[in-house]
Amino acid sequence: MHDMLVRLFRLPASTGKQQLAEQGITIRRCQPYELHLLQSWVGKNFSPKWVSEATVAMSHRPPGCYIATQEKTIIGFVCYDATARGYVGPMGVQESARGKGVGQALLLEALQEMLAIGYGYAIIGGVGPAEFYRKAVGATDIEDSSPGIYSDILPEK
Ligand SMILES: CC(C)(COP(=O)(O)OP(=O)(O)OC[C@H]1O[C@@H](n2cnc3c(N)ncnc32)[C@H](O)[C@@H]1OP(=O)(O)O)[C@@H](O)C(=O)NCCC(=O)NCCS
Repeated sequence: MHDMLVRLFRLPASTGKQQLAEQGITIRRCQPYELHLLQSWVGKNFSPKWVSEATVAMSHRPPGCYIATQEKTIIGFVCYDATARGYVGPMGVQESARGKGVGQALLLEALQEMLAIGYGYAIIGGVGPAEFYRKAVGATDIEDSSPGIYSDILPEK
């Protein structure tokens, strides 16, 4: 599990958000009053560690999580500045909603905000699906980045 680098100054202009809106999918910031809904959705679909990271990212002003919603339900999320500043993630899309561009749109939305608030690059820490990040945002591998900041992690009991 290595880290990847995203050049924020070379992001595509469009996030694909408009095309998703035509299918009834909204990409938007998660609001503080929705934190409990985000936590329970991330816990159900992913892991307790991602609940913790999303909770930290949500404590920024403005909150550092974007969600995808359909029929008033969360179907995906992405965070930035969670475990470390300058990092994007965790992120995930509900299994039944994958392959439609939701992950890419969420990621681009968060990265565009990172560029707007002053970052030049973003790091994806401890990458799983490297090919997704390469395709979606032109991310490149960071040499000698494993283990990165995610080391000596306490196991779930
Ligand atoms: C990774 C993930 C967020 C992708 O979400 P998604 O909504 O299915 O992705 P998109 O539909 O936006 O895909 C964008 C492109 O990446 C490709 N892609 C998506 N997931 C991929 C994967 N796991 N491996 C390789 N390519 C992938 C798609 O085919 C698409 O390419 P195309 O434009 O040529 O069709 C989703 O699969 C997921 O939640 N996985 C489990 C959690 C996870 O691994 N999170 C990342 C932790 S580092």
